[in-house]
Amino acid sequence: EIVRSAAAAAAAERGAERIVACMRNRTQLTLGLATGATMTPLYARLVAASRAGLISFREVTCFNLDEYVGLAPSSAGSFHRYMHEHLFGHVDIEAGRARLPNGMAEDVAAEAAAYEAQIAASGGIDLMLLGIGANGHIGFNEPGSDFASRTREVELDEATRVANAGGFPDLAHVPRRAITMGIATILQARSILLVATGSEKAAAVAAAIEGPIGPACPASALRLHRNVEIICDEKATAALA
Ligand code: F6R
Repeated sequence: EIVRSAAAAAAAERGAERIVACMRNRTQLTLGLATGATMTPLYARLVAASRAGLISFREVTCFNLDEYVGLAPSSAGSFHRYMHEHLFGHVDIEAGRARLPNGMAEDVAAEAAAYEAQIAASGGIDLMLLGIGANGHIGFNEPGSDFASRTREVELDEATRVANAGGFPDLAHVPRRAITMGIATILQARSILLVATGSEKAAAVAAAIEGPIGPACPASALRLHRNVEIICDEKATAALA
């Protein structure tokens, strides 16, 4: 299902409303979460809903999609820091229930396997929130990623490093590697909510929805899932037929 909203703010509002509805319906919930510019206004709305007493994270477990390899949690640009600043630092989530992959792990493969096991032990992800890269990536599953992939270490595309450089002093500081949930990990979620805003995402949104299903556009894998909602602003839908 594709929902088009006129402005980016309206898309964030709809995305937040969907999550709030889910949290009010069931307090014991496992959420999959994304970082990035698209999610910032959405998390601001979740924080407001939490402050207003509409939702509580007390019994919610969160698993973020990804984290850079080699960045300390407190470093500028780390997704740990992003989540603390935009969501976890402002809501009543228990520290142990706010999970991200540990990019500082000595054995990244073991960390990736442990992360998969933790997701499974939590009962699996009920609602997976996704953004989309201008190159069609979901999580940090760059073009070419196997649809059977699980949480693992990946190399970032140069375009992704450039797109994410804003959080760092300069491009040279953007890590080259990350840990990300795999495409199969994402598709295992019971429901998926993708939010895309801005004209930079228009081509990726069109490829994901109307292009061939295959690794050239990782987000096209979402068409293999039965419960996906895509929320776009007007600009992100500009290339759709
Ligand atoms: C972030 C993530 C990425 C972003 C995507 C869009 O945790 O997994 O897939 O969702 O790169 O990022 P923004 O919203 O910054 O355009």
